[in-house]
Amino acid sequence: PKITYVQQDGVAVTADALPLMTLMETALMGGVDGIVGTCGGICSCATCHVWVDGEWADRLAPPGAEEADMIEGLAHRRPESRLGCQVPVNEALDGLVVRVPPAE
Ligand code: FES
Repeated sequence: PKITYVQQDGVAVTADALPLMTLMETALMGGVDGIVGTCGGICSCATCHVWVDGEWADRLAPPGAEEADMIEGLAHRRPESRLGCQVPVNEALDGLVVRVPPAE
């Protein structure tokens, strides 16, 4: 599935996710600016923060308690905020567009 990341500079980067990858891992593979994944995906750094457009947000499983707590502490949080490392990519997400918020 192809995921498009709109970076802070407005440039859109599209990356092709491999099976079992998350939104964070797919961004790293695609060289997306602004997605760092410092904690390696254990939901403790929030350097994988993305904004998911509303129509797509409904197709994702809602954030778990740990993810919701991390998002709560972010300066740039929005209702559509997610942590990329907590969102597995699957075929149903082909064509997903997410935006990269400013760094915290
Ligand atoms: Fe650290 Fe997602 S990679 S919280």
